[in-house]
Amino acid sequence: MTAEFVRLEVADGVGTIRLDRPKAMNAISIQVQDELALAAAEATDRGDIRAVVLWGGEKVFAAGNDVKEMASMSYTDMVDRVEKLQHAVNAIARIPKPVVAAINGYALGGGCELTLAADVRFAADSAVLGQPEILLGIIPGAGGTQRLPRLVGPSKAKDLLYTGRFVKADEALAIGLVDRVVPAADVYAEAVAWASTFATAAPYALRAIKESVDRGLEVDLETGLQIERHSFTAIFATEDSRTGMQSFIENGPGKATFEGR
Ligand code: CAA
Repeated sequence: MTAEFVRLEVADGVGTIRLDRPKAMNAISIQVQDELALAAAEATDRGDIRAVVLWGGEKVFAAGNDVKEMASMSYTDMVDRVEKLQHAVNAIARIPKPVVAAINGYALGGGCELTLAADVRFAADSAVLGQPEILLGIIPGAGGTQRLPRLVGPSKAKDLLYTGRFVKADEALAIGLVDRVVPAADVYAEAVAWASTFATAAPYALRAIKESVDRGLEVDLETGLQIERHSFTAIFATEDSRTGMQSFIENGPGKATFEGR
């Protein structure tokens, strides 16, 4: 399938997954969700991509799922649709590399949920986030009832989910919905700069950290510590671990560059 609305652009070790459906404010249609899943798979597989930026361009991140497309869908249509939607968002969440969402403009509904699949979120000072599904008489289906409370806590999440109200960047920062607020013109560059710091970092260690944190959040502490123990010992099978520790001994901290072996 040739991607029409989601592009993967790669420069200097950073892959940008770029939503580009401006006429509909990057609304996530069936085609967009399928293209997102393909872009996530490619970003996962490509060795020249060491970190990922998720971006919707300078005007809007994404105004949610495509309401015009959804409005006429039946229960049975939706059974398949929501499974594929969650598959696409999960594919982003499971990219085994650092992923940052760069948010300009609106990130609403499925758009906000897409940002929740990133590891961190940088927002424009003019960004607006929210889960307005309730105002349509529906609920989030791209992980909002699950990832949002895990990120901001259940009561703040329920406030946003129950009311559907829009959250400006400063409040989003205060409640932990975003991690950094910057001038709108700088969001993408800041996100790329953050992602670029991983271009020569140890990829297997990054992957192991991401997996340990994400899987650990789903289980009890003892199981989480066991996941960490296994990842910790496994990382000693990589050449990167030799390179990193030897470089510390010879040159001091933070000087190693890693080839991903
Ligand atoms: N789906 C389809 N089209 C959308 C859209 C959406 N989610 N959001 C915006 N658009 C379209 C508008 O219909 C309009 O198209 P036309 O020019 O053809 O009429 C165009 O984008 C521009 O939108 P507006 O004229 O409304 O622009 P605005 O600046 O006045 O308002 C907005 C912007 C506040 C984002 C408003 O468009 C809006 O509220 N959009 C819907 C937001 C929403 O409810 N999102 C949740 C969707 S449901 C969901 O995501 C479910 C899930 O979790 C899986």
